[in-house]
Amino acid sequence: MENLIQLVNRLQRACTALGDYGEEKAALPTLWDALPSIAVVGGQIFVTSSGKSSVLESVVGKDFLPRGSGIVTRRPLVLQLHRIDEGREYAEFGHLPRKRFTDFAAVRKEISDETDRETGRSKQISSVPIYLSIYSPNVVNLTLIDLPGLTKVAVEGQSESIVADIENMVRSFIEKPNCIILAVSPANQDLATSDAIKISREVDPKGERTFGVLTKIDLMDQGTDAVDILEGRAYKLQFPWIGVVNRSQADINKNVDMIAARHREREYFAQTSEYKHLASRMGSEHLGKVLSKHLESVIKSRIPSLQSLITKTIADLESELSRLGKPIATDAGGKLYMIMEICRIFDGIFKEHLDGIRPGGDKI
Ligand code: GDP
Ligand code: NA
Ligand code: MG
Repeated sequence: MENLIQLVNRLQRACTALGDYGEEKAALPTLWDALPSIAVVGGQIFVTSSGKSSVLESVVGKDFLPRGSGIVTRRPLVLQLHRIDEGREYAEFGHLPRKRFTDFAAVRKEISDETDRETGRSKQISSVPIYLSIYSPNVVNLTLIDLPGLTKVAVEGQSESIVADIENMVRSFIEKPNCIILAVSPANQDLATSDAIKISREVDPKGERTFGVLTKIDLMDQGTDAVDILEGRAYKLQFPWIGVVNRSQADINKNVDMIAARHREREYFAQTSEYKHLASRMGSEHLGKVLSKHLESVIKSRIPSLQSLITKTIADLESELSRLGKPIATDAGGKLYMIMEICRIFDGIFKEHLDGIRPGGDKI
């Protein structure tokens, strides 16, 4: 049985398949907005980054994201993680459906090539997502959307508007009530200046759907620690803060293995006297598990409303199709038809399993 997160993944991809169609897609953005997702936000002040890519890679246990200075992430990356029990890990892109990547350096190159294809190497940003699925025994089932880092200044070759463009794009994702925000802030900077906290506070003032992630705990000044933040006194969120220790730049240069880095991170929290008492809820592996569990429970709670929305979407599409007239000759009509079929399949799946997800039931 496919799990709920994977079901929603398929629905998400189906919505995006129609995403480029102007008027015809009217029915779908609502559906897309209704799907729970997790978006990763973090800031960047000159070369001091919050460690967003590192957090994502640690959760995946693999390095595969483009790196470099400046604004590297210029399109949303919808990262769908699928746990497999055995076998070799591999990746697949939405835009290259039949190609299996087992070389993660090639994954990294394809992300940046595909970014350039859309933005024309202009270093501008685009809100058209790249879909990447990773199948691995080292991941939990989870979908994360990586967004461009919030920045204060444009770099050479980028228009001044890019700073505001990024902020607007990030906001357009995280302002949706169904978006879970992963706000990444570095521990070696004042939390009051964190762009991630600033923007998430704006859209989620009570911290009801924000997970605070604190990176670079190992880089704090001697004699200072992050206990006040991690225990929720410095900035209160409904969910506990999670601290992580990612690979340093020197580790990356030395190609320190990601799984080895996870072990070292676990040791760091278990053996540092300040953090010992918090160790069981710290680290990238814990973060992945917490998010997967949370995402699944949010999806569960949204199923009844998703289901009625799907029913409505089918009805809307049916009337749109009859307006277009049959046989459906246009490409747009064909796509509408396809999406309607997908919605019908989902409708069926939801109906079939609704018993299992009513309060008390824990099936699916
Ligand atoms: P992004 O720009 O927000 O995606 O940040 P990156 O993940 O690329 O990280 C920027 C730099 O900070 C890299 O050199 C990382 O090695 C380093 N870094 C990130 N997190 C940590 C951490 O927890 N500890 C240490 N020591 N370095 C980190
Ligand atoms: Na930040
Ligand atoms: Mg990055």
